[in-house]
Amino acid sequence: MVSLSWLESLSGAELSHVHITLLVFLLVFYTVKVINQNRRDLANIPPGPKPWPLVGNFDGTVKNAMVVLTEQANVYGNVYSLFVGSQLMVVLNGYEVVKDALSNHSKVFSDRPDIPAITIMTKRKGIVFAPYGPVWKKQRKFCHATLRNFGLGKLSLEPCILRGLATVKTELMRLNEGSGAAGVDLAPLIRNAVSNVICSLILGQSFHHEDRQFRNMLDLMDRGLEISVNSPAVLINIFPLLYYFPFGVFKELRQVEGDITVFLKRVIANHRETFNPDHPRDLVDMYLKEISVQEDSSFTEDYLFYIIGDLFIAGTDTTANSILWILLYMVLHPDIQGKYRVQAEIDEVVGTHRDPSMTDKGSLPFTEATIMEVQRLTVAVPLAIPHMASKTTEFRGYTIPKGTVIVPNLWSVHRDPTLWDDPRQIECFIPFGIGPRVCMGEQLAKMELFLAVSSLLQAFRFRLPEGTPPPTLNGRFGLTLAPCPYTVCVHPRR
Ligand code: HEM
Repeated sequence: MVSLSWLESLSGAELSHVHITLLVFLLVFYTVKVINQNRRDLANIPPGPKPWPLVGNFDGTVKNAMVVLTEQANVYGNVYSLFVGSQLMVVLNGYEVVKDALSNHSKVFSDRPDIPAITIMTKRKGIVFAPYGPVWKKQRKFCHATLRNFGLGKLSLEPCILRGLATVKTELMRLNEGSGAAGVDLAPLIRNAVSNVICSLILGQSFHHEDRQFRNMLDLMDRGLEISVNSPAVLINIFPLLYYFPFGVFKELRQVEGDITVFLKRVIANHRETFNPDHPRDLVDMYLKEISVQEDSSFTEDYLFYIIGDLFIAGTDTTANSILWILLYMVLHPDIQGKYRVQAEIDEVVGTHRDPSMTDKGSLPFTEATIMEVQRLTVAVPLAIPHMASKTTEFRGYTIPKGTVIVPNLWSVHRDPTLWDDPRQIECFIPFGIGPRVCMGEQLAKMELFLAVSSLLQAFRFRLPEGTPPPTLNGRFGLTLAPCPYTVCVHPRR
């Protein structure tokens, strides 16, 4: 052991002088060490384009990000590096690499990064952006089990989904008559039906699509997401203090966040007031019950608040956009929609006098294949949700430093020209991700897609309004890929 007794023999003045010298020495030593460490850490990272000082490779645009990132794999390989500011990101392309990282190296690559704009809003609670660890695991397990208990992925949820679709059909007829040749925008109706399923599971109630409060809430979530990923507010990720700027999108983002908070806190308070532990009505009740019996301190009303927000955001746009994409492709391919293909199959198996059921799924292979093919072509969450390396690791010959943001490029998997000619490649179909962070709502989403598509195509023939040019198939990229707005004319088939 090193003795420091010599220090005691120094006078006060000498001591402070020594202190300062020591401090400067330590500071220089530490800085050099950090720089060397960074150099060493970055010495064997995957190749990539040269970053600019301060902004890195980030040019402020996210439009078509998945296409650009996929093209770059042709230059730098399937595992390559980018910098956003000084943050290292490694982009994973192609099925083999994505699977290798998220399944075979799942212990290292299942964490979530601390993205300033998101951390400010989620406090790293909930499920989607929670760090990989025991709290995330417990919360996810509890929510998954509870949602299953209320019907997620099971036949018992079917009536709830079909009720929502019945409303969509009635409203479609009404709006179609009113809109004449201009056609109807399907998006608000579909979004409403999808989020009502989540509402029933979580809040035990559904809302009319014209309910002002509910619409307002959906619009706020949309706007919040849009601002977070598709506006100058993305700069918060490089300069976090921008979040507090008192004007523009920064101010709007805080306002949106505040309004969503008020809505959700009111929902929880209403549940607490009418709560009966013997008759839990929905996920919120089950969670309140869990808070009262669990000794685990991660179960709190505060945590519940973030979970509700997560499930709405993760479960609404993803599913609604997927349905809208499928209907758009049907409009653009009337032969596939028409009497010789999807509708012919539905007519033959289900007929016209009853609703389709999940039990028909096995007998409707063409309908199912059509849904999957559009999912493949449009990849609702093209860059998944960012992952993070929780420790420095070797991956495919490169060193990935702890804290690196990992971007699983699901677009590159589903658009890989070497993969999809062979129908046996079905294992590479991973629109819900892969590994421990795989989508928690996969079974629910599959049910909703199947029932919505089969039920709407059973009831109507959809076509573009006369003289309207077909919308571009590029879509609009936020966290999800949404189709550009379009309208359709609706013809009842019964
Ligand atoms: C077609 C519809 C959907 C698609 C394409 C989709 C896709 C995805 C993808 C790609 C991820 C990220 C996986 C990763 O991080 O590697 C994800 C995560 C997630 N999804 Fe979905 N999703 C859909 C519907 C839903 C629904 C309906 C729910 C609601 C119950 C939901 C809840 C979640 C949750 C909670 C996560 C985060 C999981 C975690 O971090 O542990 N999703 N989803």
